[in-house]
Amino acid sequence: MVNIQMTYSLERENRILSALLEVSKVLNSSFDLEKNLSRTMSVLGDFLEMERGSVFLLDHKTKELRIVAAHGLTKEQIARGKYRIGEGIVGRVLEKSSPMVIPNVEEEPLFLNKTGSRMKRDGISFLCVPIAFKGESIGALSADRIFKDRTITVDEDIRVLEIVASIIAQYAILWKHYKESEQEKENLKLELKGRYSLPNIVGSSDRMQEVFEAVHRVADSKATVILYGESGTGKELIAKAIHYMSPRAKGPFIKFNCAAIPEGLLESELFGHEKGAFTGAIIARKGKFELASGGTILLDEIGDLPINLQPKILRILQEKEFERVGGEKTIKVDVRLIAATSRNLEELVAMSKFREDLYYRLNVVPIFLPALRERKEDVPILIEHFLRQFNKENKKGISLSSDALKVLVNYNWPGNVRELENAIERLVIMTNNETITSSDLPINFALVAPKGVFYNGSLKAGVEDMEKSTIINALKQSGWVQTKAARILGITSRQIGYKMKKYGISVLNS
Ligand SMILES: Nc1ncnc2c1ncn2[C@@H]1O[C@H](COP(=O)(O)OP(=O)(O)OP(=O)(O)O)[C@@H](O)[C@H]1O
Ligand SMILES: [Mg+2]
Repeated sequence: MVNIQMTYSLERENRILSALLEVSKVLNSSFDLEKNLSRTMSVLGDFLEMERGSVFLLDHKTKELRIVAAHGLTKEQIARGKYRIGEGIVGRVLEKSSPMVIPNVEEEPLFLNKTGSRMKRDGISFLCVPIAFKGESIGALSADRIFKDRTITVDEDIRVLEIVASIIAQYAILWKHYKESEQEKENLKLELKGRYSLPNIVGSSDRMQEVFEAVHRVADSKATVILYGESGTGKELIAKAIHYMSPRAKGPFIKFNCAAIPEGLLESELFGHEKGAFTGAIIARKGKFELASGGTILLDEIGDLPINLQPKILRILQEKEFERVGGEKTIKVDVRLIAATSRNLEELVAMSKFREDLYYRLNVVPIFLPALRERKEDVPILIEHFLRQFNKENKKGISLSSDALKVLVNYNWPGNVRELENAIERLVIMTNNETITSSDLPINFALVAPKGVFYNGSLKAGVEDMEKSTIINALKQSGWVQTKAARILGITSRQIGYKMKKYGISVLNS
């Protein structure tokens, strides 16, 4: 008798081990939660005479336990099997985070039999153990034990179920992480589809959508537009969009940067000159306004326009006429003016460097282009856009890993979209692998301002501080060669010169 008992328990041990091995195999096979948990429950039935094994997981939204998988239950029975925390045996196991056993379900009033699956309830014990991860209950595992004989103790059954429950817990947590990352990917894809409404201009942030809406509204009219925005935020791109969406799209689009031309030449560049107007004026020449006739002129960095030339611009805006340098004849032009500036014109007006009347005349339709760091949600779709563009240009198929994307989203982008565009171009050209990872990124991307830095002064002072130290860093990196530093920052050498003057940066800072 003793021997038979021993043989029986050895056999039982073996079956338990085989069952556990099978369970871990099943759960390692894929992330199909319901299918794999169902198979796990069949293993309990096949190997250990535990029928109607059910896995309940807590739905954090509804705070309900629902059956995720069950062996031997129909779909309808599964759908009925929902418990609140503390309700019935299953609800209590979760609440108390300890196992419960009902030796004979026939005699137990707490046993709700919600699924209605047990027609005959005699001779059935009900076992239920919590599924917990790091001490927190996330669900429950239950099974019916059909007692043909009473040789196996309940403790032993509970022990086996607890082991299975701990394997399921690990699996469920892994599955949750997997689902979350899938969801993240899906969200990214949705974002990528975006609602862009201007060709080749990317931006699904609310701020950019406002810009696009303004562009649509203003394009048809002849209204003067002024674009405010830091360097590289897309002022020229938006100016072109307005032009090409306007009725003058077939006319010329002329761009003129007021900060790029020596002051002495500005007037003749803009308004042209007659022959002999000044030394070297051998022939008469048309200025930008005449060249832009019937089209649009973009006056970039209008804040740099010298005060003595400002009345001439005002006259063009009001009377649509001007004279060439050294000329008597009044010339009429039909030009739409779009101004752009990275400077605060109001401040210039306050300092009497910009005429107030011209400021109001220009400010009919102001459009503000947000800095990239103020609309980080656009970074992923801009990256996608530039990757597509530069992959095509370079006949490559490079993508970006999610850790690299994170670094780029967190970066401050002082040079805005232009800096991002240059960075992606460089990465596509320089990277030999299929995927750009965070270790492929230049070190300066990781140098994001530490979190929690806090300025006593205004936001503007904080931003200026950051801008100043970014410029100094770039200059140090480039051995104080301004053009190189400007390239690192994604701005022009004129702009870096201007900013260095503004912040009083000189080689002495090194
Ligand atoms: N929303 C956007 N979508 C796609 N490309 C953009 C976007 N914004 C800017 N770019 C690209 O970034 C670069 C810089 O844009 P742009 O020249 O229009 O900026 P800007 O504000 O005029 O800069 P700056 O003041 O330095 O002249 C361009 O190559 C432009 O195509
Ligand atoms: Mg520009």
